[in-house]
Amino acid sequence: MVKTTRLPASFGVQIEMDSGGALDTLRASELRDLVNIHGLLVFRGGHLTADRQRHLTSCFGRIALGADKKPKELYVSNRRRSDAPDGELIFHYDYAYDRNPTEIISMYGYEVDDGATPTLFASSNRVLDTIPTELRNRLDGLEALHACFLDRTAPAEERSVMEVDAIPRGAAGWDAQDWKTTHPLVWKNKHGVPTLFACVQHTVKVLGLPIAESDALLHTLFGHLYDPLNVYAHHWRLDDLVIWNNRTVQHCRPKPNDVVRTLRRFEVLDEDINDLYLAIGRANNFL
Ligand SMILES: [Fe+2]
Repeated sequence: MVKTTRLPASFGVQIEMDSGGALDTLRASELRDLVNIHGLLVFRGGHLTADRQRHLTSCFGRIALGADKKPKELYVSNRRRSDAPDGELIFHYDYAYDRNPTEIISMYGYEVDDGATPTLFASSNRVLDTIPTELRNRLDGLEALHACFLDRTAPAEERSVMEVDAIPRGAAGWDAQDWKTTHPLVWKNKHGVPTLFACVQHTVKVLGLPIAESDALLHTLFGHLYDPLNVYAHHWRLDDLVIWNNRTVQHCRPKPNDVVRTLRRFEVLDEDINDLYLAIGRANNFL
């Protein structure tokens, strides 16, 4: 039985570890259950090699591969070449705009000094229990459009005419501007956990509504999603490991400071889209 303690938030738990490195003894099914129930797991205090992090992450499913067909090891860093954009990042799910967003993200505090920029998390699952019933009932049957390169701050006339029928990723003629998709506004992750799938960075509009009405609805939903009561701030320490479900928990990076912060990342997904993202990011100068 894994011992857990609640985080100071409405979701997420910290996993108690023995000093001997109890990670290897944890049962994969227990960990999967815990992340489905709580959305986010924090392991604190044990040094992890890349192999151990990969091994633990593989409890949650298939680790996405790079072009070299090896598990894709990524770094988010202010000290070395980073595989994520610099600066502030508003709340998002990674690859929200893909038909198949990342399922699980695993981030490890590889190089971290005291006071490093935190990561903030918001639960898209718990919020469904707290929004008013009348609002919750409005959401059934609605779908939202998510895009990589156009967000809600784009002019209303651009967003209102934006087509849904992008060329699917992988099909002939696809380019980065086509990286958009729709998902039900109340969606489920692969284990059936419901999620209010909307984020301030990538969700362009709710389909079937005039753009002003869509904006008003999203504004209301974001007010609930990003209410401090629905947010957990993780203040990184060296050797912290945080694992979360990227379809039921979203994340952001507040305005960063310059304290050393390098996080090592693996992700669980049954497709390999990281190299495509990295190539687009480097070609468009946001990486
Ligand atoms: Fe992200």
